Amino acid sequence: MLIVVSTVAVLLIFAGWKFRKRAEVHIPLMVSAFVIDFSLLLYIEWTRHAIETLQTDVSTAASEWLLYFHVLVSAIMLVLYWVQIGTGIRLAKGKEVSRIFHKNAAYAFLAFRLLNYVTSFFVA
Ligand code: HEM
Repeated sequence: MLIVVSTVAVLLIFAGWKFRKRAEVHIPLMVSAFVIDFSLLLYIEWTRHAIETLQTDVSTAASEWLLYFHVLVSAIMLVLYWVQIGTGIRLAKGKEVSRIFHKNAAYAFLAFRLLNYVTSFFVA
């Protein structure tokens, strides 16, 4: 079920990317993806106490490595979401200097969001 919700967020991001030149479509799609991803993170932390689990419940070296990697990737993804929101708002207000940064950070964001998606299958 969580994977389905995460898939919806990824699809919204791809749709947002497709409409990146149309702010009136791009922004609602990206904001929806963020709300879904952030809610997912809160839900997982709330129901599984993910951070305590990380400290106490890692069984094998391989799963430990993967779990830490997944958490690191997710944290970077969250930071990049905020970067995109910050630069995106400045862009929407007409501050064109933010465009290059928003565009370049978008590639990093996409890479980390996809890494988060792929690794979530292995730590679920
Ligand atoms: C969530 C808040 C976001 C806001 C408020 C926002 C806002 C904007 C705005 C106003 C534009 C300019 C659209 C235009 O040219 O008319 C834009 C372009 C763009 N956005 Fe976002 N964005 C957000 C998130 C994202 C995310 C998460 C990504 C990463 C996938 C992204 C990738 C891009 C790209 C690649 C462009 C095109 C830049 C260019 O080629 O000029 N944005 N965004």
